[in-house]
Amino acid sequence: MARILRGDALTRRLDDDLRAHIAAIAAAGGPTPTLAVVLVGDDPASHIYVRRKHKAAQAVGIRSIEHRLEASASEEVLLALIDRLNADPAVHGILVQLPLPPQISGDRVLGAIAPHKDVDGFHPVNVGRLSTGSGGGLVPCTPLGCMLLLEEVIADFTGLKAVVIGKSNIVGKPAALLLLERECTVTVTHIHTRGLPEIARSADILVVAAGSPHLVRGDWVKPGAVVVDVGINRIVHPDGSKGITGDVAAHECDHAAVLTPVPGGVGPMTITCLLRNTVAAASAAQAP
Ligand code: GUN
Repeated sequence: MARILRGDALTRRLDDDLRAHIAAIAAAGGPTPTLAVVLVGDDPASHIYVRRKHKAAQAVGIRSIEHRLEASASEEVLLALIDRLNADPAVHGILVQLPLPPQISGDRVLGAIAPHKDVDGFHPVNVGRLSTGSGGGLVPCTPLGCMLLLEEVIADFTGLKAVVIGKSNIVGKPAALLLLERECTVTVTHIHTRGLPEIARSADILVVAAGSPHLVRGDWVKPGAVVVDVGINRIVHPDGSKGITGDVAAHECDHAAVLTPVPGGVGPMTITCLLRNTVAAASAAQAP
């Protein structure tokens, strides 16, 4: 049987560490770490994610301020809001929930956030710091959560073969860079990769962020592999009930050494890493 590596259990421990860190900032006369979340439009999934982020922030003692703009809001209005948040010393982290409506350029908006407040790690400066391995940048939350989960079960990453399925800027590419930074041999693939099952089968660490339910079958997984399933796919079961499933057919993967569940695996880690980045941004703002 594969060991099921739960993110929700790990987040409880990490959230306790965050509370202690926030208390230490306060004891040193520092500010309450503050996160500004910007939500444009009425995408239902985005509303759910933003509510979860807000509640999780409050639960550890981070002040979370929500800014809502109508779906018809112009890019200028959003950029003006970001300018105000950049200039506000009481705001340490800024997150603009994606996706944005079509009249707004995501690249322009993400590039407008001050890099030291970019708790999503999507600004080109933070992307550059991650890709050069120079450190000091803010790292995207989902791949950071994947690495913290992997660190629970892997003591030494050196030389391990890692395969990432998915090439998004939010997960696939930064996950590959983080694994490379730990001296893994990394192959980045996607749903159009030829011979994908065979490549996946070569992985000691398989990170799947393809957004395709049960793309990875049992015979894509090497016996003893560590599998991180980043997929969050909404499905309707044959009986009509709704649920969430991952990108990995977990019921076929008993031969894996470790498997993260969906839900309860990477998802909760993403939020905890957002809180972690917010506290890191607040600490850095306070540093002399
Ligand atoms: N939409 C889906 N994932 C993310 C994320 O990690 N950050 C933001 N800002 N929006 C998202």
